[in-house]
Amino acid sequence: MKLKTKDLLTLAELTPREFVGLIDDSINLKKEFKQGGNKPVLKNKTLTMIFQKPSTRTRVSFEVGMYQLGGHAVNLSSNDMQLSRGESVEDTAKTLSRYSNCIMARVYDHKLLETLAEHASIPVINGLSDSFHPCQILADFMTIKEKKKKLKGIKIAWIGDGNNVCNSMIYGAALSGVNMSIATPKGFEPNKDVVKESKKSTNIELTTDPFTASKNADVIVSDTFSSIHNLDKKRLEKFLPKYQVNDKLMKSAKKDAIFLHCLPAKREQEVTSSVIDGPQSVVWDEAENRLHTQKSLLATLIRA
Ligand code: CP
Ligand code: NVA
Repeated sequence: MKLKTKDLLTLAELTPREFVGLIDDSINLKKEFKQGGNKPVLKNKTLTMIFQKPSTRTRVSFEVGMYQLGGHAVNLSSNDMQLSRGESVEDTAKTLSRYSNCIMARVYDHKLLETLAEHASIPVINGLSDSFHPCQILADFMTIKEKKKKLKGIKIAWIGDGNNVCNSMIYGAALSGVNMSIATPKGFEPNKDVVKESKKSTNIELTTDPFTASKNADVIVSDTFSSIHNLDKKRLEKFLPKYQVNDKLMKSAKKDAIFLHCLPAKREQEVTSSVIDGPQSVVWDEAENRLHTQKSLLATLIRA
């Protein structure tokens, strides 16, 4: 499959066909891998990874993904780069384009990614910014498709902070005909423009009541109340105890509802141990699927 876009920064760059195509391709790559390994379609290709923030899953799944497809990844903390001494993002983008075949960056300010993408001649992938986390959503929707055998018509209840992951999930919902009900405290709603745009394609409901969101939900999702860029401890008071995903909230969704969390999780804050370690939780499959979706994305963008 060839994508229209060079870069993946939000998810909104994809057409519905491309989004669903990437998910189906990821499911096939996973099967192929489990049956003995993937073809080395990225032989001699290199990914440059830039991290301004900590990461476990994104860092490892991108590096292992490149390796499993026959390529290689270079990992850079932005502190080790000349960026930290004032070299411009534009010059960094041009330089890295002469060495490698793709850049994946985890940053604070989303605009930095846009500048990188504009000046790099190679694909740029958002590995999380303060505003979006598109790679997470590819893995989440792959997991939903695996468990529920479909996407269209599924209802997701997002409980907690209308953050970067939530913003990309709304785009994912709009691209696949998934309905979302989002329960947040007042003032913690997802990005208004993202909601407005996505409402044209699917049902996106905003509420302050977690039980309104969870009604008839097939999927319950939570994420930390304090993202890497939002570490103010006072935030917690706005979320607890009302927005914690616990057994009572899980019971209020459909009987066969699944629980997703991008991880890392703070147990007993946004989710109880009984839920995240319980029978409805699919968080380890979700974490594994970061690997398969990243491989699909890398192979598609780099070979374009
Ligand atoms: N879900 C996710 O992006 O995890 P990391 O922060 O560990 O990469
Ligand atoms: N919303 C979280 C996601 C971490 C993967 C953050 O930005 O820290």
